[in-house]
Amino acid sequence: MDYLEIEGGAELSGTVRIGGAKNAALPVIAATILSDRPVKLENLPDVVDIRTLLKLLERLGAKVEHRGNEALIDCGPLSSTRAVYEIVAQMRASILVLGPLLGRFGECEVSLPGGCAIGQRPIDLHLKALENMGARIEIKGGYVHAIAPEEGLHGATIVFDKISVGATENTLMAAAMAHGTTTIVNAAREPEITQLCEMLVSGGISIEGIGTGRLTVTGNGGNPLHFSKPIRIIPDRIEAGTYLAAGAITYSRITLENIEVEHLQSILDKLESMGCTFEISEGKLTFNPPTGRLREVNIVTAEYPGFPTDMQAQLMAVATMAAGESLIEERLFENRFMHVSELNRLGADIWLKGNVAAVRPVEKLYGADVMATDLRASSALVLAALAAEGTSRIRRIYHLDRGYEDLEGKLAALGATIRRRKSK
Ligand code: UD1
Repeated sequence: MDYLEIEGGAELSGTVRIGGAKNAALPVIAATILSDRPVKLENLPDVVDIRTLLKLLERLGAKVEHRGNEALIDCGPLSSTRAVYEIVAQMRASILVLGPLLGRFGECEVSLPGGCAIGQRPIDLHLKALENMGARIEIKGGYVHAIAPEEGLHGATIVFDKISVGATENTLMAAAMAHGTTTIVNAAREPEITQLCEMLVSGGISIEGIGTGRLTVTGNGGNPLHFSKPIRIIPDRIEAGTYLAAGAITYSRITLENIEVEHLQSILDKLESMGCTFEISEGKLTFNPPTGRLREVNIVTAEYPGFPTDMQAQLMAVATMAAGESLIEERLFENRFMHVSELNRLGADIWLKGNVAAVRPVEKLYGADVMATDLRASSALVLAALAAEGTSRIRRIYHLDRGYEDLEGKLAALGATIRRRKSK
């Protein structure tokens, strides 16, 4: 199994190019099921989660040509509507095929994704929305079996009692294929949702309220959509945030390119309150560390435009270097603190009480062997290792490979001493 070996203490410098957003690309790939013609995708991140979803589409009968950051996906020949456990279990986001398969084919079976390291993660909101549109849902043998009425799904008013990115996406894709108008109240507002909406609009669907918590979708009654123009995936705000955190924890000036500054606002606000500054020009951002020590910070995770839960672990790593005590509250997932004990192995002083972490100041972090537990927890360990004195080895980095394209190559190009090694 691969591991990363990092010699901490190097100052970073230079420019890093941010790739396409994994979490935007996944629903876009699922939405290609709504078409019976080839769809071209550009600026795809070359990461394992993307390959997993493409593999799932191939298993359903789609024709996929995938090379690096581009793919041509043809769901015309799609012949199966059963998303099997062996792939869904590898990646929870596979549940995103539920809405489009049901919308286009009127019936599908999708394996239940199960829990994961960061929490229970139910799919009740996805199922309730589809039921509101007329679907009959049965759970049998670990699979969700969904059947639309004979005349197809119908529009409905769906009020989510909790904001869910995935449930909003599944509902949007099903609503695009329904008869009549669907209104989603309390919809997620993440930039990844906006990208999906814009893709559906480019396929001829009318959507009002894009970017707001109330989306009104006029479905086209079940006709396949046609996406004649390539879909270009938006820049990854979490990858960008992770490199900003790398600049902060190593007190280095670095530049990010291919970014959308507006999507980074809540992350920039927190780094600014820690004493960091930024120079922003079109599509580029230069990060400047504080002249003195980083200041402590208080963070509460929230839905967009609030502070993203996907950046909580990385900012916690940065907070270990601050002059005072920081408080970090996780509001979205009940078990998203698996990185705490590993950060403490590197010399951090973090105390957990319920869903709040108190990060106390330490003079230094020290290299150690640590274990990655989930995608973003892994990047927090990489960040801490960049700042630690001595050598760290980070194991189970298959988590990192799910969502970061060439993390070690990009960090090495910025001047970090980082190598991927194989354990004997
Ligand atoms: C997406 C992101 C993930 C991010 C998360 C929150 C993708 C592929 N993944 O995950 O990186 O951390 O948004 O920003 O885009 N919930 C329910 N019932 C449901 C659905 C969700 O109770 O049916 C709960 C979840 O357990 C969680 C909260 O709602 O507590 C938010 O989850 P959700 O927004 O659905 O996350 P994902 O779409 O799975």
